[in-house]
Amino acid sequence: MENNNTDKRKLTTASGRPYAEHENTQSVGSRGPLLLQDFILHEKMAHFNRERIPERVVHAKGTGAYGTFTVTHDITQYTKAKIFGKIGNTCKTFLRFSTVGGEKGSADSERDPRGFALKFYTEDGNWDLVGNNTPIFFIKDPKKFSDFIHTQKRDPRTNLKSPTMMWDFWSLNPESLHQVVILMSDRGTPFSYRHMDGFGSHTYSFINSENERVWVKFHFKTQQGIKNFTGPEADAMRTQDMDHSQRDLVEAIDRGDFPKWNVKIQVMTEAESKTFRWNPFDLTKVWPHGEFPLIDVGVLELNQIPRNYFAHVEQAAFAPSNTIDGIGYSPDKMLQGRILSYADAHRYRLGVNYEQIPVNSCPFMVNNYHRDGQMRIDDNGNDDPNYYPNSFGDVIPDESYKEPAWELDSNVADWYDRNAGPGDNDHYTQPGDLYRKVLSSEDKVNLVNNIVGAMSGINGPKRAQIINLQLCHFFRADIQLGMAIAKGLGVDIDQAMVSKHS
Ligand code: NDP
Ligand code: HEM
Repeated sequence: MENNNTDKRKLTTASGRPYAEHENTQSVGSRGPLLLQDFILHEKMAHFNRERIPERVVHAKGTGAYGTFTVTHDITQYTKAKIFGKIGNTCKTFLRFSTVGGEKGSADSERDPRGFALKFYTEDGNWDLVGNNTPIFFIKDPKKFSDFIHTQKRDPRTNLKSPTMMWDFWSLNPESLHQVVILMSDRGTPFSYRHMDGFGSHTYSFINSENERVWVKFHFKTQQGIKNFTGPEADAMRTQDMDHSQRDLVEAIDRGDFPKWNVKIQVMTEAESKTFRWNPFDLTKVWPHGEFPLIDVGVLELNQIPRNYFAHVEQAAFAPSNTIDGIGYSPDKMLQGRILSYADAHRYRLGVNYEQIPVNSCPFMVNNYHRDGQMRIDDNGNDDPNYYPNSFGDVIPDESYKEPAWELDSNVADWYDRNAGPGDNDHYTQPGDLYRKVLSSEDKVNLVNNIVGAMSGINGPKRAQIINLQLCHFFRADIQLGMAIAKGLGVDIDQAMVSKHS
């Protein structure tokens, strides 16, 4: 086809050769077979066949935006991280929101925690906080993670979501109760990603310029206000607009209505951590605000939807191992488990050089002895030495980045903590506090209705057993809560207790 548009960009092959025909394949006569030499046909088909990469094994459905983090308060007494060095400091960020259990094409309004994965591009390196919209999680040992996630995905035979699997797992793992109560409240179905809080969730550490360590938790409080769907509203939105949260974020940013979050921290000294009544590194527990007040740090604003979803959002790779000088890990077992898991997932999903993809790459300094590998797209270290130590290069470790040593309080290696205090296995006080002290009467009614609705889906020969065991957990958190759920499910409490003890 003739094209006289001289102001348009020329169509080329992948290797950059302009070519003439993009719709018809070269053939022998107009009705004859195709010619192999028109390799562009094969280039198009072969590239198309390779368009899909593995979806994230969890958090597959998501949306993301670039933004800016600005420091508004001085926290240099706690951390030497350069980004916090001065009020007014800013850095570029990228935030990916997600649901957890659904596939890439699933609905945004599903009842699920929401991912809140944030990358700060700082001059100390990229710092990733890979959290959720809840301050806690279902489990406290990473060995349970894959089992737990299997229950949130599809039944191996029916390929359907299975309330039976979910409640079976939760009832057998009572540490999940706190997160289950939050999930079943209306916060389990946020109206949109703009209207929810975010949390670093884990306990991390801050190290200051005196090399002193404190424990820290990160909170992101939405300036848009908390807004949730009720259960029935979320169900309706699932059919009305599967991509409601994606649309909400894109449209808000495109019209210049940039969402913001107030960034805050909680701080616990090492001395306080030794006397705290719960394990401060247990991801199923919060630190009460009354004892560990929120301290203002800064503001996070999202202000740019990337020009290409796949390039930026799908290829984004966050890792809890990415901390920076002045911010460190803690003994939180879940955090420890996640430190290795994410980079491993990215090497599988995106390839060994995933940190060179623009959304993941550090815009400041990157120097190391990693070489080669698939899709190496930078200069691969040029002709610098590719081994260490060497007598030629200048890329050397710097001891000033060493963290203060950790003092561990045990020399016993075991799977169980023989010295666990009563608080370590207290799965009930905090969910009970949430129900009694925090939820309004309306929240309580919705919570019970949501739980009853979800548990009604349990079926099969173990139905009564699973329901009774889970009811025991709700009763132990709060008797009124247990009673209301039992009533909603039509369970005769006396009969249930008899069958549990017989
Ligand atoms: P506070 O009364 O000081 O704070 C209550 C917190 O609960 C607020 O952060 C509030 O968030 C949040 N909240 C309100 N409704 C829900 C819900 N349906 N699901 C989850 N969170 C909700 O209480 P304490 O710090 O003494 O903690 C009491 C309980 O509150 C805890 O056991 C925990 O379940 C919950 N909680 C505590 C948090 C913490 O870090 N201490 C954080 C989040 C929840 P908002 O300010 O956005 O309204
Ligand atoms: C994504 C593992 C616990 C938040 C992922 C991915 C893996 C994973 C493999 C996919 C990564 C990818 O392909 O890009 C684990 C393991 C856990 C764990 C092994 C426990 C041991 C948690 C917890 C939270 C969390 C406790 C939040 C508090 C997220 C988020 C994402 C994610 C937000 C999506 C990141 C993105 O947007 O790209 N997790 N996870 N995970 N996880 Fe976890």
